[in-house]
This record gives sequence, C-alpha cells and structure tokens, in this order.
Amino acid sequence: MHNANLLKDELWKGFRIDVQEFLPDGFMVHAWDKRKLCAGYAKVSVHRQQAKLGDIYVLDRLLPRFKWCPWYKPRINYRNQGLGSQILRCVIIQCHILGIHELSGEIVGDREALTLFYRRHGFSINGTVITLDLHSLRGRS
Ligand SMILES: CC(C)(COP(=O)(O)OP(=O)(O)OC[C@H]1O[C@@H](n2cnc3c(N)ncnc32)[C@H](O)[C@@H]1OP(=O)(O)O)[C@@H](O)C(=O)NCCC(=O)NCCS
Repeated sequence: MHNANLLKDELWKGFRIDVQEFLPDGFMVHAWDKRKLCAGYAKVSVHRQQAKLGDIYVLDRLLPRFKWCPWYKPRINYRNQGLGSQILRCVIIQCHILGIHELSGEIVGDREALTLFYRRHGFSINGTVITLDLHSLRGRS
C-alpha cells in the first residue's frame, strides 16, 4: 500500500483520526484524544478486493485509583458519543480509496446492540456475519 492511498488525518470533535498501513496487508484507523491517548481503533486486513474488519474498539476503562481517595473510581469512557461510527466511516472511506468491493466481519460481543450499530452503517447481517457491498454503493453514487 502506498502512502498516497491512505486517507488523510482528520480532526473530529477534538479527536485526531489517522489511517496507517498495517503490515503485511491491511490498515488501521486510530482515534487519538487531546492527551494523545488512543481513544479507539479499527483493524482491517485486505486481500485483493476484499477487506475484513478484524476489530473495532472504543475506549472505556477504569484507571488506577488514587491512594488518598480510594472510593473515587476514575474512568475514561468515549463510547456512545459517535466515535465508533466515525472510525467505521473512515474504514469505509479507506476501503473506497483502495477500490475494495466488499467489507466483511464478525459480530463478537453484544449481538443485539452491534447488529443495530452495523445495520445503521449499511451492513447486511447474516447470523454473526456482517457484510458491506461497497461495489453496489459505488454504483449508486
Ligand atoms: C461497538 C463500539 C465500537 C461502538 O462505539 P461507540 O463509540 O460507542 O459507537 P457510537 O457512539 O458511534 O454508536 C453507539 C451505538 O453503538 C452500539 N453500542 C453501544 N454500546 C455498545 C456495546 N457495549 N456493545 C456493542 N454495541 C454497543 C449501539 O448500537 C449504540 O447505538 P445507540 O446509540 O442506538 O444506543 C463500542 O461500543 C465498543 O468498543 N464496544 C466493545 C468492543 C466491541 O464490541 N467491538 C465490536 C466487535 S464486532
């Protein structure tokens, strides 16, 4: 993959989102917060004109407690603010740039919520398998 084929960095609601090549064949989308902490990512492998979404994740983590304040549970939660959708959008745009015909993957986790999430982004769902036909989307635009 050549750098010219990678989506340019973008700023979205204070997060910097970038796309990096992922060797040997694929790419990763990262979202970085203002402290340069990784707030979310997606990992995609590419084979010919097919892409596979290996993982998509948005940070929700409990941090170590302060010794002087043990009852306080500091937490960083970036979910349900649209960040996962924005990362998935970048994945889809990057697939378009690479001329990929189909993006597929598997639902792992909360099946009901994830079915809604992927359906909202145009995926068809068959059991736990998700598929986005980019070829027909391209034909429509
Ligand atoms: C799935 C995930 C990436 C969505 O990221 P997000 O930033 O919360 O997504 P958005 O804010 O763009 O969209 C919210 C939607 O995500 C889905 N969602 C929310 N919490 C979820 C959870 N715990 N598990 C699965 N999906 C969830 C819902 O469909 C929600 O829709 P709603 O607004 O109607 O409730 C994030 O919840 C996550 O990292 N989950 C854990 C890892 C995971 O399940 N990855 C998917 C593997 S297939």
